[in-house]
Amino acid sequence: MAVFVTHSEEETLQIAEAFAKTLEAGDTVLLGGEMGAGKTVFAKGVARGLGVRSEVTSPTYAYINSYEDGRLPLWHFDCYRVPSEAYARALGFEEYFSAGGVCLVEWSENIATLLPEKVKRVQIRKTESGREIEL
Ligand SMILES: Nc1ncnc2c1ncn2[C@@H]1O[C@H](COP(=O)(O)OP(=O)(O)O)[C@@H](O)[C@H]1O
Ligand SMILES: [Mg+2]
Repeated sequence: MAVFVTHSEEETLQIAEAFAKTLEAGDTVLLGGEMGAGKTVFAKGVARGLGVRSEVTSPTYAYINSYEDGRLPLWHFDCYRVPSEAYARALGFEEYFSAGGVCLVEWSENIATLLPEKVKRVQIRKTESGREIEL
């Protein structure tokens, strides 16, 4: 476990970019933290670290955005608005976890029973001076 403190979006992008270099095919990373903590910023940094060239946007309404032009396929989930686990299961969310890429999951609480057994966790907390990122 390591804790980093960042004072800008760019610093968080850099931590995430370095973290991305450690990722392997099949990794699922749960991005925890309240609304506005910086989960999507972190996901953008991971994409950058994997060499994704396309623009990364929040999958708030699409639930899952795919980026397949990097070192590994990247699937970025935002489960905030997923209505139920049954709904997510019906959409085939589980298939992504065993598809040989990297899955980043925001609001994974909402699909708890669909998650694989082995996950990595990134927790982001707002502090007075910035963000605390626990890897
Ligand atoms: N140190 C920091 N790290 C990440 N984001 C930061 C930081 N400081 C300020 N921000 C801002 O906080 C917001 C985080 O938004 P976002 O990543 O969409 O949050 P989440 O996905 O967790 O809801 C962005 O507007 C970003 O510019
Ligand atoms: Mg987000």
